Amino acid sequence: MLPAELIRFKQTGRSITVLTAWDSITSSMVEAAGADVVLVGDSLAMVVLGHATTLPVTLEQMLHHAQAVGRGFARPLSNQPLVVCDLPFLSYHCGEDEAVAAAGSLLKNSCASAVKLEGAESEVLKVIQRLVRTGIPVMGHLGLTPQAVHQLGYRRQAEDQLSQDKIFRQALELEQSGCFAIVLEHVPGELASRLRSELKVPLIGIGAGTDCDGQVRVTADLLGLSEKQPPFSPSLISGRELCINALQKWVNEQQKQAKNPTK
Ligand code: KIV
Repeated sequence: MLPAELIRFKQTGRSITVLTAWDSITSSMVEAAGADVVLVGDSLAMVVLGHATTLPVTLEQMLHHAQAVGRGFARPLSNQPLVVCDLPFLSYHCGEDEAVAAAGSLLKNSCASAVKLEGAESEVLKVIQRLVRTGIPVMGHLGLTPQAVHQLGYRRQAEDQLSQDKIFRQALELEQSGCFAIVLEHVPGELASRLRSELKVPLIGIGAGTDCDGQVRVTADLLGLSEKQPPFSPSLISGRELCINALQKWVNEQQKQAKNPTK
């Protein structure tokens, strides 16, 4: 799927679904479930690699996981979900050339055909424009941007009018800079509503209410696998509990089986 398809979905009112994956088991399930977009999110730093924030994950680790995601798809390439890979912290903050090299390496060496990056400061806008000119589609990310955790925390953002207006302006700047879609995380639903009707590109929400063009979720959260569940992303099943119970049953059965003692 091409990014332009998502803009067509917005125009026709077809809701867009985005799920994260970091390995081939998950990407095969997400593809089978029919998601439009697979996001190789840098949340892998926390959910899979056990870090306290998303900051430590490296470009090499993102590439390693994006490659695994690609190996999980069963459909022919032309029919696979669009794969978007997060650019990790500092891979796009130290100059446009470095950002192009980082994004380019993900597109050259994995199934990713677009990148996502956070924020809309003037340097970031310049990077986005350069990536788009290079032929690299870019998804934006505003609101709670986890790479800025040391400034924003993990709190809901844009609680007051001033900060809502700032995010509103930034979203329009991301669109003007060439983003094909924008993720809006953990903000009041009214802001998402206002933005959705103003933007030509799709607004993909998480913890931003239902009035978005689509929704993105961390797959491990939806399946209830994470130990820490974000308050704005409830689970559909208690996956962790189900898995532990099944494994415990197997362990108990093995331990009950009498074996001939060896000397
Ligand atoms: O890294 C990630 O999983 C994300 C989503 C929460 C949007 O950026």
